[in-house]
Amino acid sequence: MKMNKIFVACDSTNINKIKKIIKQTQNSEIKVGYKFGLEFLNSKKGRNFVSKLKNKITFGDYKFSDIPNTCISAINAIKDLRFNYITIHINCGLTALKAAKKVSGNMKLVGVTVLTSLDNKALKEIGFGKNVKELVLQQAKLATKAKLDAIVCSAQEIEIVKKVFKKEIITPGIRLSSKTNDQKRVLTPNQAYKNGSDWLVIGRPITKGNIKKNTKKLIDHLNK
Ligand code: C5P
Repeated sequence: MKMNKIFVACDSTNINKIKKIIKQTQNSEIKVGYKFGLEFLNSKKGRNFVSKLKNKITFGDYKFSDIPNTCISAINAIKDLRFNYITIHINCGLTALKAAKKVSGNMKLVGVTVLTSLDNKALKEIGFGKNVKELVLQQAKLATKAKLDAIVCSAQEIEIVKKVFKKEIITPGIRLSSKTNDQKRVLTPNQAYKNGSDWLVIGRPITKGNIKKNTKKLIDHLNK
């Protein structure tokens, strides 16, 4: 049977909390990977911890967004960490995406589309002339052109992305309840898989409060 795949977002600067998240989310019913983002990777002990992590599927959520030369240098600078996946903002443009892809080696390069914390109003505020769906479609086309390995988008846009991008789709903004925190474009785990997500990214719904209980609640939801 195909296993549900989930990246747990390890968003903390506390090593003991991260160790606890990793330990308490181990289970035989879902395939779990670990996503480390700006908070942990920029913390004093974060990089060292990741460098020593063995036999785990790892995701370095760096969200690179810079000129081609800097993206290349930054990717070269983290190669020793041997992440399975790393992220780059598609908004940094086709040239930077292609350049990054050339040096990313065995690390899958994941293109980030419009952040799940943004809605149409926020895009207008920034100055975009397209709405979320139009912009995500355009970004997915760029990801295909740059031969990226995967895309991060909201589970609400999977259908659009799939029209032009045929590889892995990773979706944050996953919620089991109406508590959305700062996320704007959310869906439940079952809805996200139904739409065709390959990997879900889940942070606070698992890591805030009782991690074991939250993991069990998630598995119960998936088994419905
Ligand atoms: O706690 P929550 O489930 O909202 O965590 C979502 C995680 O996914 C965070 O680590 C966040 O940085 C990341 N992410 C996101 N939206 C994107 C890309 C990444 O929420 N578009």
